Amino acid sequence: MPARIIDGRVISQQIRDEVRSEVERLRAAGTDPGLAVVLVGENPGSVSYVRGKTRAAEELGIRSETIRLSDTISQDDLLGLVADLNEDERWHGILVQMPLPPHISETAAASAVAVEKDVDGLHPINVGRLFRGEPALLPCTPHGVKQMLVRSGYDPAGKHVVICGRSNLVGKPLAGLLMQKAPGANATVTVCHTGTPDLARFTRDADILVAVMGRPNAISADMVRDGAVVIDVGINRVPDATKKSGSRLVGDVDFGPVAEKAAAITPVPGGVGPMTVAMLLHNTVLAAKGGRD
Ligand SMILES: NC(=O)c1ccc[n+]([C@@H]2O[C@H](COP(=O)([O-])OP(=O)(O)OC[C@H]3O[C@@H](n4cnc5c(N)ncnc54)[C@H](OP(=O)(O)O)[C@@H]3O)[C@@H](O)[C@H]2O)c1
Repeated sequence: MPARIIDGRVISQQIRDEVRSEVERLRAAGTDPGLAVVLVGENPGSVSYVRGKTRAAEELGIRSETIRLSDTISQDDLLGLVADLNEDERWHGILVQMPLPPHISETAAASAVAVEKDVDGLHPINVGRLFRGEPALLPCTPHGVKQMLVRSGYDPAGKHVVICGRSNLVGKPLAGLLMQKAPGANATVTVCHTGTPDLARFTRDADILVAVMGRPNAISADMVRDGAVVIDVGINRVPDATKKSGSRLVGDVDFGPVAEKAAAITPVPGGVGPMTVAMLLHNTVLAAKGGRD
C-alpha cells in the first residue's frame, strides 16, 4: 500500500496559525515582534529564501526588515552590524542568512548574534543547551522535523531513528533533539555519514529514517524497511527538460519506489521546507516573549 504523505504545508499552517495568535496577544500587550534578516551578496537561492521568510513573517503580523549587504563587506563590518542589531530593541529575532562569502566565517557570524535573539538556533550556546536538554532557541529545520513527526502521530519515543547526514545545521542538532529524555524525543538515534561503511545496513534498521545528505535520490527502496517513516530533508535541483525552467527540485529519497514500501513519507517540495520557515516564525515570537523551547 502506498505510504501516507506527511504534508509539511498542512502542518506548517497549523504552526503559523498558532504563531499568528501569539503575535496578536503580544501586540495587545504592547510588544510588536520584529525580525531582522541580514543578507550578504546576491546568491539567488539565498535571495529567494530570505524573501520567503520575510513574506511569511509579514503575513502573520511580524515586522521584518532585510538588511542587504555587498558580498565585499568585511567580516569585521558584518559583525559590527550584527552587534548594532543586538542592541536595537525593535528586533527580537536576528538571522544571518547562510551561506556567507568565503572570506567570512559562518561560525563567527552565528556566534555574533545575541543568544536571546538567535532565531536560527545556531549560536553555540543554544546548540549546547539543546544537547544538554536545557531550554533553548532550537534550530529551525531539526525542530521542524520533530514537530512533523509528533504532530502526524509518529512519536519518536522508543523508535530507532537513523539520520543520514551530520551537518551542524541539521543532522547533528536533530540527533541531539531526538535523543533527549523528553516528550516527543526519547529515541535511539544513529547518525550516518560518508564514513559509514554499508549505509544500507543502518538505514534498513530504521523505524524513522531521515535523509539530509544533499544527494538526489540517494535513498533507494532497497535501503528502506517495510513500514518505515521516511523524512526527506534534502533539496536538490536536477535537470528536467520537461520543465520550462529546465530543472526541478527533488529530495534525497527516491520518492516513488520508497513510497511503495514506507508507512509514511514527506514530499519534496512541500515537506520539511515549509516546516523550517514555520519554526523560524515560531522562534521569533518565542524570542519576543523572552522564551525558549
Ligand atoms: N528542507 C529544509 O528546510 C532544508 C534545510 C537545510 C538543508 N536542507 C537540505 O538538506 C540537504 C543537506 O543539507 P546540509 O546543510 O545538512 O548539507 P551538508 O552540510 O552538505 O551535509 C551533508 C551531510 O550528508 C552526508 N552525506 C553526503 N553524502 C552521503 C552519502 N553518500 N552517504 C552518507 N552520508 C552522506 C555528509 O557526510 P560527511 O559529513 O561525511 O561529509 C554530511 O554529513 C541539502 O539538500 C539541503 O539543501 C533542507
